[in-house]
Amino acid sequence: MKTIDFSSIKTLNGLDVKGKRVLVRADLNVPVENGEVADATRINRVLPTINALRENGAKVIVLSHLGRPKGERSPETSLRPVSAKLEELIGAPVRFFDDCVGPEVREGLQSLEEGDVAMLENLRYHKGETTNDMNFAKELAALGDIYVDDAFSSAHRAHASVEAIAHLMPSYAGLLMMAEIDAVGRAIEDPKRPVMAIVGGAKVSTKIDVLSNLATCMDVVVVGGGMANTFLHAQGVNVGNSLYEPDFVDTVRDVAAKAKESGCEILLPVDEVVAVEFAPGTEWKVCDVNAIPSDMMVLDQGPKSIERLKERLAGMKTLLWNGPLGAFEIEPFGKGTLALAHQAGKLSREGKLISVAGGGDTIRALNMAGVADDFTYVSTAGGAFLEWLAGRQLPAVAALASRRVAPPPSKTMAA
Ligand code: 3PG
Ligand code: MG
Repeated sequence: MKTIDFSSIKTLNGLDVKGKRVLVRADLNVPVENGEVADATRINRVLPTINALRENGAKVIVLSHLGRPKGERSPETSLRPVSAKLEELIGAPVRFFDDCVGPEVREGLQSLEEGDVAMLENLRYHKGETTNDMNFAKELAALGDIYVDDAFSSAHRAHASVEAIAHLMPSYAGLLMMAEIDAVGRAIEDPKRPVMAIVGGAKVSTKIDVLSNLATCMDVVVVGGGMANTFLHAQGVNVGNSLYEPDFVDTVRDVAAKAKESGCEILLPVDEVVAVEFAPGTEWKVCDVNAIPSDMMVLDQGPKSIERLKERLAGMKTLLWNGPLGAFEIEPFGKGTLALAHQAGKLSREGKLISVAGGGDTIRALNMAGVADDFTYVSTAGGAFLEWLAGRQLPAVAALASRRVAPPPSKTMAA
């Protein structure tokens, strides 16, 4: 199933930007601690676009949000520290503006020269950003000649700086946006088969739509984390003291029925690592899935399950991964996740597997395993990645293709 005709999205390829004011919407929603950027990954990922534009003589104006300030200014959500970090990373001055619209910004930007970079203050200091307000979008659009969206990780938001604005001026996908669309979009919508999705996480309730959609288009879905307990419970397995959601038994049965109908295999654990509590240094043991003690909880998949997953992965051509298999944050409950990450990394290195991962926890796990670089593609997106996995169109990607779609109903962020 294709959600969008990607060929209608314009790219920077061959675009003449010399002397033009280019608005670059980046997602520089990065962690800031004590006034400093604590993780610059998202800044680094947008550098190729900024640098390419500078080298081609553009006047680059960077737009972003940070946090959820809900229309109010606050020191913790200022982009000033991000601007300082960007300056350090591009090795050239970045002119920071205290606001993103208004006469001072308009006038100040007029002195930009070819190759210069400016960064505007947090878009979400204006309510019009999250309400997708056309007038706010017009004020932003008036600041530039060309719009470049490089904020894939915000593409699930129908907000003014990623949706409305794209209908107001010549709009292009940046290099990161195109890389994300190519890698993530292809893996979901047109994968080399067989394709396996690993979906982990604590609760079925947060990923129902993802599971329902993947059950119709993947060849194999591996259910990991606490979600697997709900699936097991629905099959009559006693999961002891484990986290599970009894209210979602019907949902899980629906997903299983959909999977069966479309020939998708759902892989659940056959053995488990269990402990009395989730704490460092706690005693643990391995047991068969049908022998989980009533006073113990599942914290990872067991060695037989992991061996089986590794074998099955070796027969796949594409892997999509979101969410860990177990409680990987505490030793030794990350063993399953790390072992599978190593296997995916190895197969990718050998050119046998296209591996695409997204989501904060997943990336942390891949980094812990030291295989993030081996993966074919690691997305910068969390929410947007999940929305695409759920089969929904991303408003900002649709806007780049000159289409309007309703924002995802359940996930629209309150302004
Ligand atoms: C993210 O970090 O997921 C994006 O920047 C979107 O942020 P939001 O969830 O506040 O819209
Ligand atoms: Mg988020």
